[in-house]
Amino acid sequence: MSVNEALAQAVKKRRTFAIISHPDAGKTTLTEKLLLFGGAIQMAGTVKARKSGKFATSDWLDIEKQRGISVASSVMQFTYDDCVINLLDTPGHKDFSEDTYRVLTAVDAAVMVVDAAKGVEEQTVKLLEVCRLRNTPIITFVNKMDREVRDPLELLDEIESVLKINCAPVTWPIGMGKRFQGVYHLLNDEVLRFTPGDGKAGQEVETLKGEQIEGMNQTCAREMAQMRSETELVAGAGDSFSLEAFLAGRQTPVFFGSGVNNFGVREILRALVDWAPPPAPREAETSRGETRNVAPDEPAFSGFVFKIQANMDPNHRDRIAFFRVCSGQYTPGMKVKHRRTGKEMKLANAVTFMANERARMEEAFAGDIIGIHNHGNLQIGDVLTEGEALTFKGIPYFAPELFSRARLRDPLKAKQLQKGLRQLGEEGAVQVFEPLADTSALLGAVGQLQFEVVEHRLKSEYGVDALFERAGIHTARWVTCDNNAHLNEFVNSNQGRLARDVDGNLVYLADNHVNLSLTMERWPKVQFHATREHGQKLEG
Ligand code: G4P
Repeated sequence: MSVNEALAQAVKKRRTFAIISHPDAGKTTLTEKLLLFGGAIQMAGTVKARKSGKFATSDWLDIEKQRGISVASSVMQFTYDDCVINLLDTPGHKDFSEDTYRVLTAVDAAVMVVDAAKGVEEQTVKLLEVCRLRNTPIITFVNKMDREVRDPLELLDEIESVLKINCAPVTWPIGMGKRFQGVYHLLNDEVLRFTPGDGKAGQEVETLKGEQIEGMNQTCAREMAQMRSETELVAGAGDSFSLEAFLAGRQTPVFFGSGVNNFGVREILRALVDWAPPPAPREAETSRGETRNVAPDEPAFSGFVFKIQANMDPNHRDRIAFFRVCSGQYTPGMKVKHRRTGKEMKLANAVTFMANERARMEEAFAGDIIGIHNHGNLQIGDVLTEGEALTFKGIPYFAPELFSRARLRDPLKAKQLQKGLRQLGEEGAVQVFEPLADTSALLGAVGQLQFEVVEHRLKSEYGVDALFERAGIHTARWVTCDNNAHLNEFVNSNQGRLARDVDGNLVYLADNHVNLSLTMERWPKVQFHATREHGQKLEG
């Protein structure tokens, strides 16, 4: 087999995805069950133990310890049916941060978990918007059917109207709560019987066909009749599963189940293996300013950093850069070029993530995530390649939703504060802005955890004791305009609401949504952007 064929085969087997959901919808439970089915963990309870903080996280930051986050659990790799599956965690709850969004720039598909009693919730909406930036294919799991939940037709309607994505039900529930009988598989014309309990890994779910299904008409006539009339309605509405529409991010296959009871989990794994895409070519800019697609089976190694995790232990001041391989093959000891600095780097000690342990990485292909130890020289969006100077697109900064001003307890430390904030900003821990109208440093984040981490790191790494005061700003937009005179007029009229980011780009800071939309209406020739690419210098 040639090198290219071997690479193409390895790539074809890869599935890299994340689970998106609102807190409590069942993400942890589903993660655990997927690992259990994939044989990556032997015992239910492992992932949950981590969430509840019972898991040892050895030398990580106090904040991480308290919350039970650890690097090892941020990426989980396991095999299922000859596929190598990379499951990337999207930190939620109090750990929600820009990382949560960034993880979604490194995946090829997402599983959306919806609590069937609650429907589409706020965090899911936000995360789906991020998926939409790259038209990421979404598989939907409607969870908790073992409870008294909402009408399934109404739920699908809500997903379609709130999330603006077409639903193609693949399984349909037969009853719910105490009368939950299982699901009808619309594509396979079979019934998967529900039995409560999580004692088994679910492979043995009872599958009924033909006459056996007819038999159910006797035992649970009402639920079967309802399922039939609902599936007829759905069929009449005409949205049957289309692989093409799914891969384009226009349609989501929908599965009903109950994660805690292991029910419906196998179908999600099958959808990932059978339908979710292997790593696709990624758009990149060459040093000549041209755009080209980097194919995952190109022999030369390339990839980008999408997340940095700093080790807070003063004895281990290293950071781990989470790096998504986009082409070629990682081998220990390989030499790569760091695109931003032009320097050569040796990748000797990259780690991989197997369920709960960190292990030395022996090989990695497109779609895989490797952890690279470094001392702060890698930043979000940084590209490493085997030679070619490339910049990958689609790894943006996201408009912050929380803002704080840093105030020093010791005014003599102003220089250190500036340095610390600049470096932490470059690394991507928080976004730093300089208002046009005053000299205070304004910090922007999408989650409160980011401020806590910055406060902690300023103290331990830069010796700066700073207080963070919430600023009355609701959101920010990067501003561009083709017409210089018009832009100047805009800047002059909005001095008090404008700032520059680390790359000198102009940013509009809005007190609230009403203020933002009024300003946008008032200045129709000015463009307001909710994201910006890393390292990008916006025109105007
Ligand atoms: P999250 O990571 O999205 O926040 O959700 P998680 O999996 O922790 O689930 C949230 C709660 O919902 C948990 O209950 C979990 O057991 C429950 N849950 C998950 N899937 C199902 C399901 O299919 N059916 C039912 N009935 N419940 C489900 P908890 O009370 O917070 O925790 P625990 O005491 O049960 O562990």
